[in-house]
Amino acid sequence: MQNETPKWSKITRWLHTLIALSLTAQLILSLVLAPPDEFDDASELAKTAMEGHEVVGLVAAGLLFLHWLWMLIPNNDVKLGNLFPIIGAGLKQTKSDIGYILKNKTLPYGDHGGLSGLVHGLGILIASAIAATGVGLYIVMDFTSQGFENPLFEDIAEMHELFGNFMWAYLIAHVFAAAWHEYAGERIIARMFRL
Ligand code: HEM
Ligand code: HEM
Repeated sequence: MQNETPKWSKITRWLHTLIALSLTAQLILSLVLAPPDEFDDASELAKTAMEGHEVVGLVAAGLLFLHWLWMLIPNNDVKLGNLFPIIGAGLKQTKSDIGYILKNKTLPYGDHGGLSGLVHGLGILIASAIAATGVGLYIVMDFTSQGFENPLFEDIAEMHELFGNFMWAYLIAHVFAAAWHEYAGERIIARMFRL
């Protein structure tokens, strides 16, 4: 059971690929972008990075919204019970996966739920939090009279930065786990990104 590699559905693969690309791009752009209060004196590169971050961020938020709609459909591979296995059979599977790691010192693999589902669910929550605060920044900057000088901007930006740190940590751990499975011969990266 633990070493079978189930396939992801086509819609899940497309959504994941677009989310992975857009969020990774967002994290890289965030390293160079000019925040609005420094925008006027910033380099052309930093200005372009901020404009790109705004557009790609709104697209990423739309993709995550679609992913939530997709998760609400019962009986698909990313149904809520798989990504949030906190009750019933899902919780039992998560506990048995943790037992497997402690016993065998390697990552288990079996279905889309259990511990791997829980970790992926956490990823969706972090990604959704950063996207929601990003959309919040967009609304305050572009649709309020004070723009980025609105006191709300600083509060939302602080949350956005905090979730940014979590997103980096998730991305690094998630790619490391995927590479681990790949190294173990499970070919999950090729399977997930096959469109
Ligand atoms: C949805 C995916 C998004 C990701 C992964 C993301 C990620 C990040 C990260 C990591 C930072 C750097 C935080 C720091 O300095 O430590 C940042 C800054 C920023 N992001 Fe985003 N972001 C996203 C969406 C958006 C959207 C939709 C907007 C809307 C305009 C936005 C606007 C900003 C602004 C203005 C800053 C600079 C904040 C400041 O330093 O004052 N982001 N973002
Ligand atoms: C921050 C960006 C990313 C997020 C939020 C994310 C999130 C997720 C989620 C939620 C799943 C479960 C399927 C789904 O619900 O769509 C998943 C699976 C997967 N992700 Fe990512 N992902 C990201 C980036 C990446 C990257 C860059 C890679 C490249 C190695 C990757 C490789 C995989 C693989 C191989 C799977 C399948 C794992 C399995 O079969 O158990 N992801 N990811």
